Amino acid sequence: MNWKLSFVMTVITLSGLSMAVSGCKWDSEEALFNTVTCDTTSISYSKTIKPMLANSCVGCHNSGFESGGVSLETHKDVRVYAKNGLLMGTVRHEPGFSAMPKGGQKFSDCQIQQLQAWVNKGAPND
Ligand code: HEC
Repeated sequence: MNWKLSFVMTVITLSGLSMAVSGCKWDSEEALFNTVTCDTTSISYSKTIKPMLANSCVGCHNSGFESGGVSLETHKDVRVYAKNGLLMGTVRHEPGFSAMPKGGQKFSDCQIQQLQAWVNKGAPND
C-alpha cells in the first residue's frame, strides 16, 4: 500500500471514530437533558395538555370526526377519558388498549409523565 492510500484510510478511520464517539456523547446528553428538564410540576391543561393533544390527537378526535366515538377537543371531553383510564392506557400503549396516537409516534416519556401528573391532580381545567 502506498503512503497516500494509507493516509486516506487513516483519515477515514479517524473521522468515523470521532463521529461514533460524538454520537454517543450526544445521546447521553440528550437523555440527561430529558430527565433534568421534564417538568411535571408547573403543568396545566391550557399550557401543557391541550397543545399536546391538539398536535397529536384532535385531528382524529374532534366533534366533527369522533374516531371510536371519542372527542378530545374540549377540556370536558378530555376529562372523561382522563378519569376512566382510557387516556393513559392508550398513550402508554398498555395491553388491552388501542395504542394512540394511532399510526403515529408514541408520546415521549416526559409527555406521558406530564399527562399522568395532570390526571393525578384530578384533570382540572387549569
Ligand atoms: C389517525 C387517527 C387517530 C389519531 C391521531 C389518534 N386516534 Fe385515538 N382513535 C382512533 C381510532 C380509529 C379509534 C377507534 C379504536 C381503534 O380503531 O383503535 C381511536 C380510539 C381512541 C380511544 C378509545 C379507545 C377505546 O378503547 O375505546 C381513545 C381514548 C383515544 N383514541 C385517544 C387518543 C389519544 C389520546 C390520541 C393522541 C395521543 C389519539 N387517540 C390519536 C384514531 C386516532
